[in-house]
Amino acid sequence: MAKISVSRLAKMKQEQEKITCITAYDASFAAIFDQAGIQVLLVGDSLGMVLQGHDSTLPVTVEDIAYHTASVASTTEKSLIIADLPFMSYSTPEQTYNNAATLMRSGANMVKLEGGTWLSSSIAGLIERGIPVCGHLGLTPQSVNVFGGYKVQGREKGEADKLIHDALALQEAGIQLLVLECVPVGLAKRVTEALDIPVIGIGAGTETDGQILVMHDAFGISAGFCPKFSKNFLVETGDIRRAVELYKEQVENKIFPGAEHSFF
Ligand code: KIV
Ligand code: NA
Repeated sequence: MAKISVSRLAKMKQEQEKITCITAYDASFAAIFDQAGIQVLLVGDSLGMVLQGHDSTLPVTVEDIAYHTASVASTTEKSLIIADLPFMSYSTPEQTYNNAATLMRSGANMVKLEGGTWLSSSIAGLIERGIPVCGHLGLTPQSVNVFGGYKVQGREKGEADKLIHDALALQEAGIQLLVLECVPVGLAKRVTEALDIPVIGIGAGTETDGQILVMHDAFGISAGFCPKFSKNFLVETGDIRRAVELYKEQVENKIFPGAEHSFF
C-alpha cells in the first residue's frame, strides 16, 4: 500500500472513517505501528518528557526532533510522519521555515506547531514553500507556564468561542490537520463540525475525526503518571502488536475514548 497522504486523511473525514494516530520516536516501534495500519505517526516533543525525563516539553530542540524523525522514517512505509516544531523554534516566519526544512529533510511529511491566529502568516508561508502543516489547539503543552499547569481548556464560553475562531483561522491559513488536546467533548464536536479538515483529538472525546495517544501512555510505561484521557492497551492484550490493534479497533468503533477518558 502507498503512503497515507493528506488527501486520504481528508477523504476519511468525509466518509466518517476514524483516523488512528500515535506518537513514535524510534525505528522498532515505528515499524510495529506502520504494519498495524496506524495512519499517522507523530514525532512529538512529548519525547522531552517520556524519553528525556523532563517535566515539560520546553527543553526539546529541533535537533532532538530531527534525530528521532530520521529513526522513525527509517522503517515507516505507509504511515504519514508528522514532526513537532519544538518550543520557540517558530517565533518568526524565517526561523519557522528553516527549522521546518530541517525536519522535512530528516523524513517528516508534515510539521506541527502549537497556537492560534498569530501563526497564520508562518503557516501560509510554509505551505507556499511545500511544507504541509498540522495545527494544535486546546491544551498546548509548550504554553504550560502561561496556563499555570496542565489543565482542560475551553470550559468557559469566551474561551470556547476563541478556540473555534482560532481553528477557523488556522484552516484558512492552510493547515491540513488539527490536533485538539484536553477540551470538553461538546467543544471538540463543535470544532470538528466547523472544520472541513480532519480534527484529531487527545482528551477530547469520541466526536473528533480521529485520536492520538502518546505511545508510552498507550502501553502504561510513562515514567510519570498516566493522564485520565489515556488507556493502557497492554492490560487486556499482554502483547504490544495486539495492544496497537486493539487501540485502532476501539478508536474505529468509538469504544475508546470512553466517558471515563473524557472531559465534560
Ligand atoms: O508531543 C506530543 O506527543 C503531542 C501529542 C500529545 C499530540 O503533541
Ligand atoms: Na507535542
